[in-house]
Amino acid sequence: MNFEVLPSLLAADYGRLGSEILKVESSGADAVHLDIMDAHFVPNLSFGPDVVALAKREAPGLFRSVHLMLSRPDLYIARFIEAGADSVQIHVEADCDIWQALTAIRAYGVRSGLVLRPQTAVAALKPYLHLCDEVLFMTVNPGYGGQSFMSEVLPKIKELRTLTDGAGRRDFDIMVDGGINYETGAQCAAQGANLFVAGSFLFKQSDMAGAVAELRERCAAASGL
Ligand code: DX5
Ligand code: ZN
Repeated sequence: MNFEVLPSLLAADYGRLGSEILKVESSGADAVHLDIMDAHFVPNLSFGPDVVALAKREAPGLFRSVHLMLSRPDLYIARFIEAGADSVQIHVEADCDIWQALTAIRAYGVRSGLVLRPQTAVAALKPYLHLCDEVLFMTVNPGYGGQSFMSEVLPKIKELRTLTDGAGRRDFDIMVDGGINYETGAQCAAQGANLFVAGSFLFKQSDMAGAVAELRERCAAASGL
């Protein structure tokens, strides 16, 4: 099992985004996470494909994880992949044909992911799991960085890990996003998560590299694997 840490660019200083992307790369993070918001699916706006393209230009070797918080992600898949997305995650609650959207993402040769809001049941994923390379559990209500972790999501992580292990997909990637720090990351890892997005926690550190390494180590240790 891979344990990975993905700083979310949502918490970066937008006045110097290029150097913030380089900071993520030099921290030894496994990827940069880009949160795309449409002020409709979530009550906030962030940025679009140009920032994904900027990340590719500044740090071509840094994996770009793109989380689409859009009501109609299907209409934007091509633009984000052309801009440089290496994985595209769509919400299972989005207003589109989820089957077709995941199939389209995979047809471009990038990783496909499904995301659940904290209130959504794992059962909603079941028809689509064979089309997903990863599942992202939101551990806050999507829309803003800097919110508090919602521990009620923890049993759902375990439920999905049990399901994917039972299906023989023992290396299935389960990501968490929202309010992640050393303690909450370890709690998620103990339930079966292996990919950890963290925004405000990592960007507020004076030593991002040290925090990335420590978060990865603490989560791996808590997983018991
Ligand atoms: C929230 C985003 C998260 C957010 C996490 O809608 O999906 O990726 O940036 O930020 P923190 O780690 O500050 O909760
Ligand atoms: Zn996100």
